[in-house]
Amino acid sequence: MTRAALAFSGGLDTTVCVSLLKEEYGYDEVIGVTVDVGQPAAEFKEAQATADAHGIDLHVVDATTEFVSLCFDSVRANATYQGYPLGTALARPIIAESIISVATAEDCDAVAHGCTGKGNDQLRFEAVWRNSDLAVIAPIRELELTREWEQEYAAEHDLPVQAGNDGVWSIDTNLWSRSIEGGELENPNYTPPEDVYEWTVDPANTTETELITIGFESGYPVTLNGDEYDPVELVETLNEIAGEHGVGRTDMMEDRMLGLKVRENYEHPAATTLLNAHEALEGLVLTKDERDFKRDIDNEWAQKGYEGLINHPLMDALEGFIDATQQRVTGTVTIKFEGGRARPVGRESVSAAYSADAASFNTSSVGEITQQDATGVAKYHGYQGRIANAATETSEK
Ligand code: ARG
Repeated sequence: MTRAALAFSGGLDTTVCVSLLKEEYGYDEVIGVTVDVGQPAAEFKEAQATADAHGIDLHVVDATTEFVSLCFDSVRANATYQGYPLGTALARPIIAESIISVATAEDCDAVAHGCTGKGNDQLRFEAVWRNSDLAVIAPIRELELTREWEQEYAAEHDLPVQAGNDGVWSIDTNLWSRSIEGGELENPNYTPPEDVYEWTVDPANTTETELITIGFESGYPVTLNGDEYDPVELVETLNEIAGEHGVGRTDMMEDRMLGLKVRENYEHPAATTLLNAHEALEGLVLTKDERDFKRDIDNEWAQKGYEGLINHPLMDALEGFIDATQQRVTGTVTIKFEGGRARPVGRESVSAAYSADAASFNTSSVGEITQQDATGVAKYHGYQGRIANAATETSEK
């Protein structure tokens, strides 16, 4: 008896894969694995209904806690890729690891995914899976299938396809973000209809503003308006509140790992709010040198995160630096939701690298430092440039 564990969402790709694993690959048994990274409840029902219709076992693994903890690590790293908060990318390694656990416990010979050969997800899944002894199968890629072919195949074989909005868009949802792609959105010049968005209202329709506070401890978000929250609840609550203000929409051309561009639409209200708040707190607490250097560290973290390589040794090294800087990133930030934006309007911390006395227009000296001490600095400032310019003038005469 051969058995394959399939990353299963109940969408078109994975539904078709169940049949293909049996018919084309000859597996006796397929088990579906759906990993909970905070997708809406309807998706689990869909997955269960599809699995039942196929007569396969479905294992549902709750990985929300692990996932949100990685999302919060990404806040400490100010992680964005080409301007949007990483969502799908962070979820993939967590999902991949959960599937390996199920596959091992269930004595499977292989793990399979329904990713195409064009996207990033195949790479992110397999970076984890190829570290195991299980065979890795990618039917859509290996058989070079198109979405149209899959739709026909599903219809011919009477497969239970549940794709929301008739599979017009390809949607990926988790706690941190919602991605909408495919269909007419593949035309970069096509304006997305308002109904692609589910988490955010049209920012044009928001008139009210709202102030909230986010409390951080060592770079991790812990409170909302002074109340402590469990991380998953904090993100869910903020997705609601910020989404009502139309915060966190992205419409972009994204450069994938293979070098192909893709037209992407994202919604990420909580992520945008937390990232903006965190960066505002770092602005108060970290020295300029740390902020400048950390930007490069953060970029590397985001790049590796985008690639799904969260176990890369470089990641550990980057985390070492980030962790050292975050020890002082404790404090509170006030965010104003306003016309689709989450704008930091206040920040406080006991670790502020800021002295109101030193910077104020109203004080003349702080300790032994007086205004006049800057005279010598002012004389030297730009001195080398003046020398260079004077030398050029002389030689041009
Ligand atoms: N392009 C994004 C990424 O690679 C998101 C892809 C999400 N998939 C989807 N079918 N909407 O991270």
